[in-house]
Amino acid sequence: MLRGRRILVTGGAGYIGSHAVRFLCDRGADVTVLDSLYAGHRAAVDRRASLRVGDVRDPEAVAKAMAGTEAVMHFAALSLVGESVRERERYLDVNVGGTTCLAREAARQSVRAFVLSSTAATYGEDVALPITERQARRPCNPYGESKVAAEDVLSTAPFPAVFLRYFNAAGAMPDGSIGEDHRTETHLIPLAIAAATGRRPPLTVFGADWPTPDGTCVRDYVHVLDLVDAHLLALEHLLGGRGGGAFNLGTGTGSSVREVLRAVGEAMGVAVPHFDGPRRDGDPPSLVASPQKARDVLGWTATRDLRTITDDAWRWHRNHPDGYDD
Ligand code: UFG
Repeated sequence: MLRGRRILVTGGAGYIGSHAVRFLCDRGADVTVLDSLYAGHRAAVDRRASLRVGDVRDPEAVAKAMAGTEAVMHFAALSLVGESVRERERYLDVNVGGTTCLAREAARQSVRAFVLSSTAATYGEDVALPITERQARRPCNPYGESKVAAEDVLSTAPFPAVFLRYFNAAGAMPDGSIGEDHRTETHLIPLAIAAATGRRPPLTVFGADWPTPDGTCVRDYVHVLDLVDAHLLALEHLLGGRGGGAFNLGTGTGSSVREVLRAVGEAMGVAVPHFDGPRRDGDPPSLVASPQKARDVLGWTATRDLRTITDDAWRWHRNHPDGYDD
């Protein structure tokens, strides 16, 4: 169904976007990537796609990249929660301004499908578990706020849009060719791997006194390739003439920080050095998705477990200890 279709992927040089581009190209889609390379990497972009270096807030760059496009996958965004607290205006500018600029051009170009990378951060801290899409959106940081606003921009657009609310994206391409390479790394699994290889100091567990089974925070880690599967299904859903909506993308199973550290240690064959430290501001104790709506409407289920995530993440980091070359 995607063969020969022109698809614009913003942020296609980034972590999740680059994996999506690889699979879109495998399906025979005609892919254009628009990426500022602020956080993305030229080397992460599949050679079958055409890369345009530009900003999603630039109407001219967007118009050129979107010419003749049937569908848009919009990954390009700033996505660090802590940074967003310090730089709220910039987060709103890039994440909401970028989505607005794309939505305007998509309306002009008669785009038929728009898939937005959204986040569990739209729900905020005070949530009933597992989190369903019916839960009110009450973001507790500017990153979540910016994604709520981006969803709202698209809700009033003249084309259907799907909002994919990721829980904790993790893992890498199983062949170790592409993976996670953030200039500022804040995520648990890459930091745990770096601690175990000695490239970083021992990992600080942010709080061991949470009201959870082992006292550490619980999250729903979902493999980047499961996220890609959901994007492809969402695209087919929209191109098949069905309507948009929001979908949680998680496994439905929570893992504690200690469980993740154990899985990373098993994947690497060496224990992750760590110590218990204070809680990190803004961390909710547990976030676990209900993936039922994605299953019922899109036919999507996450199939890769935590051990697959840590095995694949380790393979990427072992092959690319310094990340991409660029
Ligand atoms: N953690 C540690 N030590 C570290 C890093 C993380 O204990 O050095 C813990 C955190 O406290 C948290 C868990 O590991 O409990 C996962 O932390 P991450 O920083 O990897 O991910 P978050 O759950 O904070 O953030 C993720 C996404 C965000 C999204 C958010 C939604 O990365 O983009 O979920 O709440 F906004």
